[in-house]
Amino acid sequence: MSDKPWGGRFKESTSLAVEAYTESISFDSALYAQDIAGSKAHARMLGRQGVISAEEADRLIEGLDQVKREIEEGSFPWKQELEDVHMNIETRLTQIVGEVGKKLHTGRSRNDQVCLDFRLFVSDQLREWIRLTRDLVRMFMRRAEENRAVLLPGCTHMQPAQPVSLAQHLLAYAWMLKRDAERMADCERRVRVSPLGAAALAGTTYALNPAMVAEELGMYGTFDNSMDAVADRDFALEALFCGSVCMGHLSRFCEEIIWWANPLFGYITLSDKHSTGSSIMPQKKNPDVAEIMRGKTGRAYGNLVNLMTIMKGIPLTYNRDLQEDKIPFIDTDKTVRHSLSLMADMLEGITFHPERMRKALAAGFLNATELADYLVTKGLPFREAHHVSGRAVAMAEDKGVGLEDLTLEELRSLSTLIDEDVYTALDYDTAVARRNVPGGTGPESVARQLEKMRRWLEEDGK
Ligand code: ARG
Repeated sequence: MSDKPWGGRFKESTSLAVEAYTESISFDSALYAQDIAGSKAHARMLGRQGVISAEEADRLIEGLDQVKREIEEGSFPWKQELEDVHMNIETRLTQIVGEVGKKLHTGRSRNDQVCLDFRLFVSDQLREWIRLTRDLVRMFMRRAEENRAVLLPGCTHMQPAQPVSLAQHLLAYAWMLKRDAERMADCERRVRVSPLGAAALAGTTYALNPAMVAEELGMYGTFDNSMDAVADRDFALEALFCGSVCMGHLSRFCEEIIWWANPLFGYITLSDKHSTGSSIMPQKKNPDVAEIMRGKTGRAYGNLVNLMTIMKGIPLTYNRDLQEDKIPFIDTDKTVRHSLSLMADMLEGITFHPERMRKALAAGFLNATELADYLVTKGLPFREAHHVSGRAVAMAEDKGVGLEDLTLEELRSLSTLIDEDVYTALDYDTAVARRNVPGGTGPESVARQLEKMRRWLEEDGK
């Protein structure tokens, strides 16, 4: 006879290899707090509904509290042969409270139980992601504020394009991360919905009150269809997508950190805390944190595809494949949390080198658009102005100087529309300062962005 909680109809016990292959305790023990909170809410509801007595409910709740203490103190006897977090906790509960422990599972199946636990877990972690994302937004804002007057080459095709303020560049990431936080918050509203009461797949005959459980657990609502409730994991997919997009944003900044820190660019120095050396080349200071973060982004994407693939072939309702859902989420959760907080640290520790950025502006002819626009204001059609400016670039390149270093005579040899006032137009600070259109790189636009972002942090920030 099998000694499993489900062993009634079994004559032989499970082979050890099968036990090891099918267990989930090695990863779902991470959900113990949610499992216990869910069981306490279920017990209280059973008591209030008269399915069990009020005293029985109290005994179960006290016992569950003791189980929680044992887990947190490290004395809980986790057992692989008890398969998963649910059966480990219920078995220990019954040892503590006696026979009444066997009543906890009334009107419940592990199918709705595991889904409840997982929904609570994903929701709790999403809240943490949101908090960390907002902290990182604050750090991008701080570094932007400090560097409002610093200019660097803005690139397209990774080629120097137009001058922008460093504040504008950093705030671009703050806006991406703001959307990430909003996406996570929106997702969390669909995640934190209770499936408890769906039981195995068809609902139960007991007079349960799913809304009472949902309310006690601070959830936004309950399931509408018992089969949907136990079978879908779209809530986890959404969360994995949110994590993937956020990691993608971090990864793009990592890429920039990596080349900005290259001495050939020299735009930044990373703090010693966030770089490592080479075992053979003494001069090296490597941006390993940024590289590993860029690499871990692949894991986050992989985890999303992992669960998408698990889900695609599963007929209704619960199938054991679903047990595999927690592994990718737990991995992405760790990756997202650690990456967000490390990115904030790393950004705080960056020393910017404005003079190196300034040098790169002149070398890249980043005021060529300004020259074309200047000629347009003098009455030349844009296409022709573009051409004249291009010839000026070729001339400056030949002479190994910037556009602003060409003499008025040289410039006038290309177009007599050019006057002394061209040098104001060619000034990089002027070029940036003139771009105060909404969302532009000009200082007033940057100030407005900071203000709007601050308001969001205050209003949305409970
Ligand atoms: N460990 C299982 C999981 O994570 C719990 C649900 C088991 N349900 C069942 N019918 N065997 O999905």
